[in-house]
Amino acid sequence: MAFEVPPLPYDYGALEPHIDEQTMRLHHDKHHQAYVDNANKALEGTALADKPVEHVLTNLEVLPEDKQTLVKNNAGGHSNHSMFWEIMSPDGGGEPSGPLADAINDLWGSVADLKQLVNETGVKRFGSGWTWLVHDGTGLAVYSTANQDSPILSDDFPCSATTSGSTPTTSSTRTGDRTTSRRGGTSSTGTRSPRATSRRSPCRRARTRRGARCWKR
Ligand SMILES: [Fe+2]
Repeated sequence: MAFEVPPLPYDYGALEPHIDEQTMRLHHDKHHQAYVDNANKALEGTALADKPVEHVLTNLEVLPEDKQTLVKNNAGGHSNHSMFWEIMSPDGGGEPSGPLADAINDLWGSVADLKQLVNETGVKRFGSGWTWLVHDGTGLAVYSTANQDSPILSDDFPCSATTSGSTPTTSSTRTGDRTTSRRGGTSSTGTRSPRATSRRSPCRRARTRRGARCWKR
């Protein structure tokens, strides 16, 4: 099935005053729709048509060379934004708990430190991009990607994201309530945190137990 823009799980104005309704409509209805349309068009008739976006992003090499960047950018934009709509909520916020909280505290000291790291990493991103909390198969890490590049391209599991550049950065929902770090944190160039935590992603467990927060791919 071709990609589709998922409906927002809340009203367009539900995130005000952090993100206004007009911004949400623009990014959800126009920008995200354009990523979906462009990706579907580029994938038409290829071996990756109708494949899940995670499969597309990890198998770009099977596409004709002149389509690979186009699909990476647009399928990445679709994947990133789909996650982004889901992890924001008018009823969100609060501290993580359980294995995810343990992993964050072990690696960075506190959620406040993680938030600081995420913000610092995002600010260093030149141009547009995303800042991620990921699980790389061995532990959590924070890094930034340019434009619409997804952690899935590196086979990492995105847990949380903030964005800057093509999307406004003034929202406290995105810059303050998501994630973050200090000890063992990473740079804006994508260096991973040096300390491993658990082979099993605490993000997946957090989702199972709490029903939210982390992106399941
Ligand atoms: Fe956007």
